[in-house]
Amino acid sequence: MSKNIEQPYDFSTADFNAVYQGGELLENAGITRVPWDIGEPQPGVIEFERRGRIRGAVLDAGCGLGDNAVFLASRGYHVTAVDAASTAIEQARKRAGSADVEFAVADATSLAGFEGRFDTVLDSALFHTLDADGRRRYAAALHRATRPGAWLDMLCFAAVPGGMPEPLAVPEQTLRRILTEAGWRVTEVSRAVYWGVAEATREFLAKTGTRVEVDAQGRTQLPVWSVLAERA
Ligand SMILES: C[S@@+](CC[C@H](N)C(=O)[O-])C[C@H]1O[C@@H](n2cnc3c(N)ncnc32)[C@H](O)[C@@H]1O
Repeated sequence: MSKNIEQPYDFSTADFNAVYQGGELLENAGITRVPWDIGEPQPGVIEFERRGRIRGAVLDAGCGLGDNAVFLASRGYHVTAVDAASTAIEQARKRAGSADVEFAVADATSLAGFEGRFDTVLDSALFHTLDADGRRRYAAALHRATRPGAWLDMLCFAAVPGGMPEPLAVPEQTLRRILTEAGWRVTEVSRAVYWGVAEATREFLAKTGTRVEVDAQGRTQLPVWSVLAERA
């Protein structure tokens, strides 16, 4: 990302309910289809599972259209998948068909009614969509919703060259601080990629001066932090 382009967007105004129905995610960003709808699980999520980082009762926080949750259910995990956008949950339920996933509309920054339930939390690109206060409340809500020793597996836009603009992308130290203050022990932060639909974000990337790699399938290869943490 070029440093001298002023960011034209207020990410806290993102309308997730709208984009799942063909409306605008952000005013004047030209995003009217779901940029993260790649129709399959994210490679970083497959990697968490391959590394044995999923166990017990799993919460997929900000599940979107549910492909990650369905993937984990297909591997035999008991998955609860929540999203604040009712339009996402409606479509996720349809897409999941007979897959054994419990979907619910819920605000991940409070998770009221889910106290002490989960052994693993998967966050595939939710944390970075929240503002500073939302990120703190979310980290605390995850602590309340999990059991002692629970694991947190997170993919979060990384504030690195060639990545998304801040404050959407998060500096490593900020991420570590917010999780640590909420009672999470961060055990690993490494670089990974999050796939997106390049066509959906063409205008947004141009206006924000973001130059990301696009692969042969027309997918943006967005740099993320792959974060492992344990409930302290
Ligand atoms: C970038 S999308 C990622 C979706 C999905 N995890 C994936 O990787 O395909 C972020 C998702 O978080 C949801 N979200 C945003 N704020 C939320 C909140 N406070 N509580 C629950 N979900 C939220 C949005 O509706 C959206 O579906």
